[in-house]
Amino acid sequence: MILTRFAIISIGVLLMSSRVQLKLDTPGEIRFDQYLRYQDIQDYLDRLNRIYKGFVVVENFGLSVENRNLTSIKISYGENPKKPLIFIDAGIHAREWIGPAQALYVIHRLVENPVESLLVRNVDWLIVPLVNPDGYEYSHTVDRLWRKNRTKGKICDGVDLNRNFDFQWLQIGASRSECSNNYAGTRPFSEPESSALSKLIAEKAERIKMYLSFHAAAQCILYPWGYTTDLPDNGEELHELGQNLTDAIYKVNSTQYKVGSSANILYTDSGTSRDWAYAVANIKLAYTIEIKGFADSLFNRRRGGRFDIPPEDILSVVSEMFEGIKMLHSYVEPKHITSENHYDVLMKKMRRIFFFTT
Ligand SMILES: *[C@@H]1O[C@H](CO)[C@@H](O)[C@H](O)[C@H]1NC(C)=O
Ligand SMILES: *[C@@H]1O[C@H](CO)[C@@H](O)[C@H](O)[C@H]1NC(C)=O
Ligand SMILES: *[C@@H]1O[C@H](CO)[C@@H](O)[C@H](O)[C@H]1NC(C)=O
Ligand SMILES: *[C@@H]1O[C@H](CO)[C@@H](O)[C@H](O)[C@H]1NC(C)=O
Ligand SMILES: [Zn+2]
Repeated sequence: MILTRFAIISIGVLLMSSRVQLKLDTPGEIRFDQYLRYQDIQDYLDRLNRIYKGFVVVENFGLSVENRNLTSIKISYGENPKKPLIFIDAGIHAREWIGPAQALYVIHRLVENPVESLLVRNVDWLIVPLVNPDGYEYSHTVDRLWRKNRTKGKICDGVDLNRNFDFQWLQIGASRSECSNNYAGTRPFSEPESSALSKLIAEKAERIKMYLSFHAAAQCILYPWGYTTDLPDNGEELHELGQNLTDAIYKVNSTQYKVGSSANILYTDSGTSRDWAYAVANIKLAYTIEIKGFADSLFNRRRGGRFDIPPEDILSVVSEMFEGIKMLHSYVEPKHITSENHYDVLMKKMRRIFFFTT
């Protein structure tokens, strides 16, 4: 962790020039000064599953065609049908490496930092750190800028999983051309990754009060819709909460995120996981979080352009975003607190009154 800036830069240059993958010292170790590969991520989740029995549950919810596991981690002190749940996914787009790093950072803080225990007291979390493992590995080994999954096409390979969800599919900002980076697939949910993710969300939809999907690198907080510039019913709430989220991030290190509906501030898109989560799974707080990118010309020219946040900067990017996630939790928790927990709170208050008055 305490590497000098020089050492970190040297590692970055080494990675850049030779594509050497540094091996983690111990399987299952987590670190935020390099990007983890698929197997490293699985090892970390396995380790948490072993150590934090009864607190986390790691489950495979599907399989990619290249036979990699699609894996979720549930973080909960006891499930209860009334308890609100926050759902997070990352890595739908292969080249957006900071997304999985961000999801892993949230997992790390929630599970391994006792200081964060309030974040898991009344709210459960279900997190999928890597939705598209095949594309992710391909972006590490073959093509740094790969975005889609690895489906075989007639001319070009790959489907944009974030245009493949079954809501307003192929309406706008999506392509029917195989070679496009926004290719929507042959039909809604043609892809195993998007289809498995939608089933996982649907199973728990009643309890999921917030849906967050980590992407990069437009540096903005997007709420529905992508397919029209009209705003959803609770557009004001989504905007105000998004604004509060960006304020919380700004307080850390003056990083400014924009807020708005996708079609209004970034681009039109359709068949996205966010619009599907909002409209079909009925999760009224649904955001795509476009994590900030990187603009330095050295990294830009050599590898993945704005998607290449240098390894030395991962921690600062994901930790400032975590302050925003804490803010979101503080909104969801009181809004959906269960009656049992109201009871807890009430009893505590009464005990306090009793103590002071006798
Ligand atoms: C997928 O998970 C199963 C069960 O944990 C495990 O046996 C298998 O090795 C995993 N496959 C990959 C490719 O990681
Ligand atoms: C990507 O999607 C296609 C459907 O078009 C599917 O057949 C293929 O298995 C997927 N690729 C992977 C690697 O999951
Ligand atoms: C946003 O923050 C303000 C100031 O703290 C607060 O009054 C308001 O209720 C918050 N709104 C939402 C939607 O979080
Ligand atoms: C704050 O941002 C600057 C510029 O992006 C970065 O170099 C620095 O590491 C950040 N500091 C912290 C504490 O995150
Ligand atoms: Zn993306």
